[in-house]
Amino acid sequence: MTSARVSQRIGSIAESATLAVDAKAKALKAAGRPVIGFGAGEPDFPTPQYIVDAAIEAARQPRFHRYSPAGGLPELKAAIAAKTKRDSGYEAEPSQVLVTNGGKQAVYNTFATLLDPGDEVLLPTPYWTTYPEAIRLAGGVPVEVFAGPEQGYLVTVDQLEAALTERTKILLFVSPSNPTGAVYSPEQVKEIGQWAASKGLWVVTDEIYEHLTYDGVPFTSIATAAPELGDKVVVLNGVAKTYAMTGWRVGWMIGPADVIKAATNLQSHATSNVANVSQMAALAAVSGPLDAVEEMKVAFDRRRKTMVGMLSAIEGVNCPTPKGAFYVYPDVRGILGREIAGIRPATSAELAALILDKVEVAIVPGEAFGPSGFVRLSYALGDDDLAEGVGRIQELLGTAK
Ligand SMILES: Cc1ncc(COP(=O)(O)O)c(C=O)c1O
Repeated sequence: MTSARVSQRIGSIAESATLAVDAKAKALKAAGRPVIGFGAGEPDFPTPQYIVDAAIEAARQPRFHRYSPAGGLPELKAAIAAKTKRDSGYEAEPSQVLVTNGGKQAVYNTFATLLDPGDEVLLPTPYWTTYPEAIRLAGGVPVEVFAGPEQGYLVTVDQLEAALTERTKILLFVSPSNPTGAVYSPEQVKEIGQWAASKGLWVVTDEIYEHLTYDGVPFTSIATAAPELGDKVVVLNGVAKTYAMTGWRVGWMIGPADVIKAATNLQSHATSNVANVSQMAALAAVSGPLDAVEEMKVAFDRRRKTMVGMLSAIEGVNCPTPKGAFYVYPDVRGILGREIAGIRPATSAELAALILDKVEVAIVPGEAFGPSGFVRLSYALGDDDLAEGVGRIQELLGTAK
């Protein structure tokens, strides 16, 4: 008999740092503290009304009160295939689509379906906090490939090549990126895709921020830019960020039919179909216009500029201007070790804790996404809160420029 209460596999998973920061900020707020949270990765806008109406209509129909196919409603799968052709230029049959409980389950399903124990995944770093955990849960090994602000947080083919081994199976590609907001140029996307194809790798591409790019920078799908990849591509996406639908929990994966069939088998035992009402809301979203995201983008763009300007004014902070998503990822290594309110934070985790403690502003330390020395702030919150929150950080840390 074993005395272990929690299995090693599950016991070794770290709590989602971004959700933890968000939860702490919300708890302090509920306790009456004037906390400003920059932790959450969700738009502060309501879901567009026509999408909500589609959900209400679906909830009235008894057929949506029942189980539906584990892989997704056929009409939604067809609409996702059509939307992917429209936005990514990538052609897929509805049978190549699996509708999941948010993009997160698509990430989990993909690694569980593709990885055997010991298989390696090239993971451009800083990475979204869920990826390494999903890779490890599948028995895989995340291989971090770090790109700092001096290279725009963009990995190069030379770096990927240096990290390649005989066990490498997958390259994970994310542009626009969470947490850095970095966006690869069409040429860079093509070069990386062609390199991956030449090595026989799979590419898993997370396109959830496809509609959030700024300064006229285009989104480029690696699946389309590098047709040499053939069918060794899995496209991950969802409605959360584009349509302000984080709480509805609809995402998807698109891949070769055999992989999708296997992933659907997995999902059929884990969660079955995504809630039908949410799927019908997602159907209205993906088959409708992109006006709402264009409106949100105007606000995000304004906030992005405010935030970069205010953070850059702090001595020791290097805040590159992100070209996509809704995060800034300043380099705070120039602050660490300096005395702030009687404390000398040695790591970005200590700095984030100090900022929460002294001025009640929640930010996510770089340790959640790779090495220490950086922090992530979401600018998907109201203009006034944003200015107030960054203003408090400025007061604590001091502006010099
Ligand atoms: C890069 C990236 N992929 C996927 C997701 C998953 O989003 P959801 O599970 O809410 O659909 C997120 C959410 O933060 C993300 O940042």
